[in-house]
Amino acid sequence: MKYLADYGDTTDFVDGDGCFLIDKNGKRYLDFLGGWCVSTVGWRHPKMMALKNSGVYIPPSYSWPEWENFARFLADIAPGKLQVSFRCTSGSEAVELAMKIARAATGKKKIVSIDGVYHGHTYGAASVGVALTPDISPGVGEMEKIAMPHEKTADEVIARFEQIAEGGNVAAFLSEPIFTNAGVKIPPADFYPRLAKICKTNGIVFIMDEVATGFGRTGRLFASEHWNLEPDIMCLAKGFSGGYATIGAVLVTEEMANKIFKLKGYFPYYSTFGWLPNDMLLAKANVELVLEHKLWENADKMGRSLLALLKPLENLSKVKEVRGIGMLMAIELSDKSLLQKILADVLDSGLVIDSASAETLFFSPPLIMGKDMVKAGADILIKIITKHCS
Ligand SMILES: Cc1ncc(COP(=O)(O)O)c(C=O)c1O
Repeated sequence: MKYLADYGDTTDFVDGDGCFLIDKNGKRYLDFLGGWCVSTVGWRHPKMMALKNSGVYIPPSYSWPEWENFARFLADIAPGKLQVSFRCTSGSEAVELAMKIARAATGKKKIVSIDGVYHGHTYGAASVGVALTPDISPGVGEMEKIAMPHEKTADEVIARFEQIAEGGNVAAFLSEPIFTNAGVKIPPADFYPRLAKICKTNGIVFIMDEVATGFGRTGRLFASEHWNLEPDIMCLAKGFSGGYATIGAVLVTEEMANKIFKLKGYFPYYSTFGWLPNDMLLAKANVELVLEHKLWENADKMGRSLLALLKPLENLSKVKEVRGIGMLMAIELSDKSLLQKILADVLDSGLVIDSASAETLFFSPPLIMGKDMVKAGADILIKIITKHCS
């Protein structure tokens, strides 16, 4: 009998320390997963541990100066013209809110997204993403998907999007800059710039879900920066708190915010625990550390060296591709039957990773990870993957 519905069945972790997780027997595991795009400054960071619980709750209908100060701080670091924050508690909630803002601001209904991309588990996020199963259908209406682009298919995908855009009634295009949960698939370089242009021409809100990629994960503070994208709306969570708090945000342009504030009717976005004072102070401290230490630069450097160490695995007959950007990486196997065996052996060797699909290993180490740990983790992966995939 399980009293808690959802948790894994493998190892009981009871503590963490920097880039390590510790199990109930005191065994230390190098954490190459970092909580799945969550960890920035590692576990039990002294600055984070020194913060006291504020012990205060202020309802969103009242004001607290720190909220406005923090929103201004986010406006300063966000790409493009993103200036106004909406508060929330998670990535799924951020995605819900982004879609509501786009519909309300444009008066249009359709949301276009990319097939195979995960955006969260709530109904809207599940419908725009991949979490809508037949058992829980129907989802939210007026959602349309275009294919995930590859080098060879990008023109076709863009043409299809243009056709949908010109058909009218499209409120927004929503996707991730890098297709993280789909197994770290990186879109062709000109894909998003071209798509964003079509959005602009047709009055379509361009939404980047940076829940997984934001705050340094891909080697830039925000992954949108890889292509100089200026989204109209950006969704944030995960690395926003580095795992120290339950928090999310939706950043919008001033123009978009004004459209919402000028609505005559009621626009529902009250979030009881959105930017709970204690959570907000922890998120702020985390983001300050990311900025102070320019952790995206470390993610870029360590990511490149990890990728260089692992790339030769592609020479093995059962490894299809090793790919990644910053501290975000996947190894795609050509034989599905090997994945569970590899995961079990890797864990046994003291390394934590996960899978993004039945044939894809996934990892996203804390952004602070240094060279020696990167090498130690790579050595374990190389040894075990070579054993199973030769
Ligand atoms: C890209 C992306 N968007 C949204 C979500 C949902 O975030 P949360 O689990 O905080 O609701 C996730 C979570 O994995 C994600 O990776």
